[in-house]
Amino acid sequence: MLSAKVEKALNDQVALEVYSSDIYLSMGSWCETQKLENSAKFFYRHFGAEREHMMKLMTYVNREGGHALVPKIPAPPSEFKSLEAAFEMALDNEKKVTKSIGKIVELSLETKDYGTFTFLQWYVAEQQEEEGYFQSIVDKIKMIGIKDTRGLFFADKAIGKLLLVPEPGKK
Ligand SMILES: [Fe+2]
Ligand SMILES: [Fe+2]
Repeated sequence: MLSAKVEKALNDQVALEVYSSDIYLSMGSWCETQKLENSAKFFYRHFGAEREHMMKLMTYVNREGGHALVPKIPAPPSEFKSLEAAFEMALDNEKKVTKSIGKIVELSLETKDYGTFTFLQWYVAEQQEEEGYFQSIVDKIKMIGIKDTRGLFFADKAIGKLLLVPEPGKK
């Protein structure tokens, strides 16, 4: 049985995963308008991953006697300054999610909720991988140095290669 505090923290995390999925959906849509097909596919794929993170949390909350709630959250940005800016925003978002997971891990220990502590280990590992994943993409984009449409073309092509292998947590 979840304590009210842990249940609230997990529901807040559900909201964060929904926001994450929304922001990647929005980035994917924006990339499509910019004719960045691979980047669009990349963000749509990650949108799906965030939905799975959300669902896993909701299932856990309900299984443990709580009530998983569908959050009402603000709309994500719809315009992005550049492909690089979008990926930097994605990296920042992942860092925010990692911090939030860390706080619930601390809360689970404080409240001696070892079941939730164990459940959250999957998220701890997932976030570590995802942060590294997004960081490596930001690094690659910086290396390519997008100065014109040609640079943008090569960056999108490089992102396309990532679609050939599974995302972190899917290997
Ligand atoms: Fe997530
Ligand atoms: Fe993520």
